Amino acid sequence: MENNVKQRMEELIEILNRANYEYYVLAKTTLTDQEFDKYLRELENLEKEYPEFARKDSPTQHVGGEVIDKFKKVRHSIPMLSLPDVFSIEEIEEFNSRIVKEGVTPTYVCEEKIDGLSVSLHYEQGVLVYAATRGDGIVGEDITHNVKTIKSIPLKLFEPIDIEVRGEIYMPKKVLEELNKKRALNNQPLLQNVRNAAAGSIRQLDSKIAAERKLNTWIYHLPNPEDYGIKTHEEALKFMQKLGFRTNNSANRVVTGIKEIEKYIEEASERRSSLPYEIDGIVIKVNSLESQKKLGMTSKYPKWAVAYKFPAQEVLTKLNDIVFTVGRTGRITPNAVLDPVLLMGSTVKRATLHNEDYVVMKDLKIGDVVSLRKAGDVIPEVVEAKKERRNGTEIPFKMISNCPICGSVLEKKKDQVDHYCMNVHCSARKVESLIHFCSRKAMNIDGLGDEIMEDFYNLGFVKVIPDIYHLSEHKKDLIELEGYGNKSVDNLIEAINNSKQNSLERLLFGLGIEGIGDKTALLLAKLFKNIDAMMSCSFEEFKNIRDIGPTLAQNLYDYFHEENNITLINTLKELGLNMNYLGATEKYNADITGKRFVLTGTLSFMDRDTLSGIIESFGGKTSSSVSKNTDVVIVGDKPGSKYDKAQELGIEIWDEDKIKNIVSQIL
Ligand code: IVH
Repeated sequence: MENNVKQRMEELIEILNRANYEYYVLAKTTLTDQEFDKYLRELENLEKEYPEFARKDSPTQHVGGEVIDKFKKVRHSIPMLSLPDVFSIEEIEEFNSRIVKEGVTPTYVCEEKIDGLSVSLHYEQGVLVYAATRGDGIVGEDITHNVKTIKSIPLKLFEPIDIEVRGEIYMPKKVLEELNKKRALNNQPLLQNVRNAAAGSIRQLDSKIAAERKLNTWIYHLPNPEDYGIKTHEEALKFMQKLGFRTNNSANRVVTGIKEIEKYIEEASERRSSLPYEIDGIVIKVNSLESQKKLGMTSKYPKWAVAYKFPAQEVLTKLNDIVFTVGRTGRITPNAVLDPVLLMGSTVKRATLHNEDYVVMKDLKIGDVVSLRKAGDVIPEVVEAKKERRNGTEIPFKMISNCPICGSVLEKKKDQVDHYCMNVHCSARKVESLIHFCSRKAMNIDGLGDEIMEDFYNLGFVKVIPDIYHLSEHKKDLIELEGYGNKSVDNLIEAINNSKQNSLERLLFGLGIEGIGDKTALLLAKLFKNIDAMMSCSFEEFKNIRDIGPTLAQNLYDYFHEENNITLINTLKELGLNMNYLGATEKYNADITGKRFVLTGTLSFMDRDTLSGIIESFGGKTSSSVSKNTDVVIVGDKPGSKYDKAQELGIEIWDEDKIKNIVSQIL
């Protein structure tokens, strides 16, 4: 009996997975909806009754329902690189010449550049075991529970092999439209574009939500082609297709020469608006995998591919108003309030107008029809007013003279374009400072974004920075707030507690010292190692630091000698915030950290400068000559006399394979 049940379950899995594949990958209907549902229900019931026979590749997994606590981090075995952008045929010609110069006669594969988020899928014995986001390219997040709900992603392949493939998860244009219609009816904020909507769906803890979003995929990259004896990218695409993946066959094309690439771009631009998914350019990849290997990569990009981005789009809309906002430093920004308009997949309602001079220079009037432009990820920009469309009812722009929030008189420093609210107690400035403190490049506290912080400020929960670390005392009140629950409050409190362990540069940047951006904060943290050393530093000492001019030196000195700031830092110390630079421990590798390296000869997998940069970022030192203090000499092709000297002194020698291996593990 049990054997019969098991067999029936296997049969149902087979029938349903095949039907899914035919419908979602091949776009063919082989079962009616009723038949599909009937089989699925039968399988669900059997799985409930006989959970011991439930299988990882069962199509019931597509339905969703699994809820996770938090996203686990996953290290990519090979970095998930992004692509360098190009914007013109000339730049594509340059890319081609660079390749030809390396001795490669290229044929290319042109593909559509899908606007979504990249994903890495891992299969063992043909069964999906986990899926991860790109993250920072080195470490991503485990999103298996949501990926399993995407019906075009096979839970089981046609062959029982171990494999990783990569591709793009996207939200079809229609799905976003429908979703936004529903959100508008429920007074929920609209999702801005397909990319954010797809990423937002994938970042849900509850997979039921992702399941409702009807996400889809195109698979376009095989990171380990040599494991399967594959010689070209074209073959890799076919191989992945044969395993059951959805590859974009009607769009992918092998081409030779710039003329054919140009033709592909023209055709892709023409079909773009009628495609059911959003594309923001095309990708051009060298077809031969041997040539790809020869061309290698930099620390960020492969040298064998580029992404051509479609040119900026322009649309017309109405300028309904110009409103003013107050930043953390008191800077006043005029903003265009526009009739909402769809521009490159995002609905645009506002655009910054920077400052008074900018608005005057563009001669913008309230009521004007204006053109708006947006290129790729770049923020939308008001290009010009269509003066020929004026009818005399337009209202001229007038700069304000008082802060729109606290009413204090604005100041404009000599020779500067910006107006400032000088009132340090202005509530807008305070909220903005709190938002800045929690922002991604500062303390990176997930869940304390702009609107929430404004609410918490107005409700009196957070008035000054230390209040953030007392939020857990208001747990009961927070749970009562609309849109909150036990779980989200717990997550928020955990994120706040975790931020106490951040390295010093995040805190330094978060404090918002005038002129100190994230890069300068890192430089200072590396140099001083802890905040006490900075607090006792003189103006002269600050000024003598490379890259710190007299103005920044004065800002730093003033900041650390102002009583309120000293009290703030001491309070944060008492609250348990880390005040030390942790960089060296954040990036540790037993083979590299603390060692002195010399590089000689040509390396084919990476240029020497990039490799030196990586070694240094892991706390290794590089120098140009070999001495008895050298720990390791890295030897490439045609090494110089440094190699002989290393042998003479008995210094450890690494060949290209050894360093390549280490780099691929840490990147
Ligand atoms: S190939 C090493 N192909 O564009 C090569 N990427 O800017 C990896 N993308 O991170 C990428 N469509 O998220 C490739 N046909 C395509 C793509 C594509 C969209 C995305 C991908 C990548 C980003 C690079």
